[in-house]
Amino acid sequence: EQGERSRLIEAHRAAAEFYAERLSSPEAAAGRRFLSERGFERADAEHFGVGYAPAEWEALSRHLMARGFTAAELIKGGLAKEGRRGPMDRFRGRLVWPIRDITGDVIGFGARKLNDAEDGPKYLNTPESPLYKKSEVLYGVDLAKREISKRSQAVIVEGYTDVMACHLSGVPTAVATCGTAFGQEHIKVLRRLLLDQSGSQGEVIFTFDGDAAGQKAALRAFADEQKFVTQTFVAVQGDGLDPCDLRVTRGEAAVRDLVASREPLFAFAIRSVILRHDVSTNEGRLSALDAAAPIVAGIKDRALRQLYAVDLDRWLGFNNEQFVVDRIAEISVAAQ
Ligand code: CTP
Ligand code: MN
Ligand code: MN
Ligand code: MN
Ligand code: MN
Repeated sequence: EQGERSRLIEAHRAAAEFYAERLSSPEAAAGRRFLSERGFERADAEHFGVGYAPAEWEALSRHLMARGFTAAELIKGGLAKEGRRGPMDRFRGRLVWPIRDITGDVIGFGARKLNDAEDGPKYLNTPESPLYKKSEVLYGVDLAKREISKRSQAVIVEGYTDVMACHLSGVPTAVATCGTAFGQEHIKVLRRLLLDQSGSQGEVIFTFDGDAAGQKAALRAFADEQKFVTQTFVAVQGDGLDPCDLRVTRGEAAVRDLVASREPLFAFAIRSVILRHDVSTNEGRLSALDAAAPIVAGIKDRALRQLYAVDLDRWLGFNNEQFVVDRIAEISVAAQ
């Protein structure tokens, strides 16, 4: 219903303003310190609308209800939860990032706790609501959409701070999923932007955290969408850093260099397998080959499959393409 939707959007706009103002309050000192330790200045926080949710039960709810929003609306939008004596604020004592849809309307929030010793998850997000569909939400898409179309490139990062760091470092095509895996609905949103322009398909670059979880997520991405795989690239920092850490420790050029160092998903996947094997022995090289074979065999485009077989031979140092091609064929027949 259109009326409900615009009411909820108004409530979120007012909530974002409320949080943003509270970032200046004495209570929000820990939040301001967090931002500055992450390399963000006050103007950066303002640009992205970062705010602070007071550590009270009803600060936002009272503020919004005084402005005519109903308890039912606050609860429906996910801003508050049902309490015994009325609505209770969902986000308390946390730094909050407003999450906007592609048109710039605030549809939800991501909220980080400021004391690691505190209970509860590090990040809380708005739950599924009439505005907030987590399977399609991309944080930063309102700011990035024009550059994504212009450059035919989208950079996918994990977190809110990573989007900020990328944009500030000269990578204005960065967006983040908000606590969910990248999936079909996200692809749909991006495909429209990427296709918009020249007719070229564009590139999607996964710049996930350089930890084990981030590498795994990159490998999982698009596993089931061959059509998109050829557009998919990976740029992962080897040493556990995320783009926000990278900007703080090595500077903005390092963030740009990381994105520029992207490699095709297939190359990344095959090299990741090889890195897990000891290729100084025949035994190790053979098991690396057998582990990488299904990846190569799974490439549907015949010419591309052949090229990766050639690469695999070179990377493993067999110097015998026919041997590699035969082995890949054996393995994929055995797997059928
Ligand atoms: N996330 C989430 N819920 C969690 C943990 C993470 O929704 N409990 C999402 C958040 O969007 C977060 C992103 O996953 O930004 C990446 O997680 P992580 O790398 O753990 O967090 P960072 O943003 O890097 O936070 P920090 O550097 O402060 O640890
Ligand atoms: Mn709108
Ligand atoms: Mn992480
Ligand atoms: Mn981080
Ligand atoms: Mn991270």
